[in-house]
Amino acid sequence: MRAIEVPAYGDADVLTTTERPVPEPDEGEVRLEVRAAGINFADIMQRRGHYHGGPEPPYVPGMEVAGVVDAVGDGVNREPGEAVVSLVEAAGYAEYTVADARGLLEIPEGMGVEEAAGFPVQWLTAHNCLHEWGGLEAGETVLIHAAAGGVGSAAVQLADEAGATVVGTASTEAKLEVARDLGMDHGIRYTEVDFVDRVEDVTDGEGVELVLDGIGGETTDRSLQALSSFGRMVSYGAASGEPGRPNTADLLFGNKRVIGYHLGRAIAEEPMRVMGAVPELSGLLADGTVAVQVGHTFDLEAAAEAHAFIEDRKSSGKVLLVP
Ligand SMILES: NC(=O)c1ccc[n+]([C@@H]2O[C@H](COP(=O)([O-])OP(=O)(O)OC[C@H]3O[C@@H](n4cnc5c(N)ncnc54)[C@H](OP(=O)(O)O)[C@@H]3O)[C@@H](O)[C@H]2O)c1
Repeated sequence: MRAIEVPAYGDADVLTTTERPVPEPDEGEVRLEVRAAGINFADIMQRRGHYHGGPEPPYVPGMEVAGVVDAVGDGVNREPGEAVVSLVEAAGYAEYTVADARGLLEIPEGMGVEEAAGFPVQWLTAHNCLHEWGGLEAGETVLIHAAAGGVGSAAVQLADEAGATVVGTASTEAKLEVARDLGMDHGIRYTEVDFVDRVEDVTDGEGVELVLDGIGGETTDRSLQALSSFGRMVSYGAASGEPGRPNTADLLFGNKRVIGYHLGRAIAEEPMRVMGAVPELSGLLADGTVAVQVGHTFDLEAAAEAHAFIEDRKSSGKVLLVP
């Protein structure tokens, strides 16, 4: 079968198409014929060798897929032909992959199989960061960075649906337009204006009650300045390439909180806290209240191009690879 390999850490062009044996499912596993693999920013950080505890080359990247059950291991109560979506430990960028049968998710009603590959990582992250971790309440104001991105475009829709006022940042006017269409109330082109000043304007000097920060670097510390007293910030990524270093003086004098979020660790340690979001998410996706924004689809062999596209900040919504 065709699979994409990271033979050594490096830039996007290290991603190479290889031939690998079709994997066999072990006990408790299914083999999936992959219809689409989701690309996540973590795949890029791992490929660069900058991901805490990430895989060592050579490896096949990819942590979420949608596809059709093709074979089942012992003890699995699934039928070949069932369409499902799943997080996978690795090796999603391939024609076939194996997944733990206990982690398979049903595809929300009315959603296409390819589109479903855009659901697990970014939507669970967005929902968890807003609600279970961030404690968002109706009437609060939330600042969402990279509002047109994968997690961002999900978070904008979910926060809007939850009755929050949504302030979002993006690097271009086109991306702000995407986020406005999804329910963002105030857009900030942070490359042109100071986002902290703009937050102050739109909140009458009060600041926002919640920040979702997947950027890190100086955005983290600056975001603390945009938080209201007793506000919360969920730190869930470092797309800037640098971890954030929050100033504790800002925290203590403002009674503010910074909360860390990692999907993989949380699923391993407290799966119900993460997966508790699934029924609501599936319902909202099935009835069309919210929708996965598939921004771009690339052929599997174009994985290098797809990674570069995301790193160059050209993407909005979800980016998929189709074998
Ligand atoms: N903790 C978890 O479990 C978890 C789960 C999912 C995702 N994440 C993290 O969440 C963040 C977003 O992930 P995603 O997959 O949805 O990606 P994404 O938002 O679709 O893409 C990243 C966006 O970050 C912004 N950005 C700012 N500085 C950047 C830089 N130096 N290089 C590239 N992009 C930059 C860009 O938006 P603008 O052009 O608008 O600035 C870019 O489009 C990432 O940090 C990711 O690792 C964490």
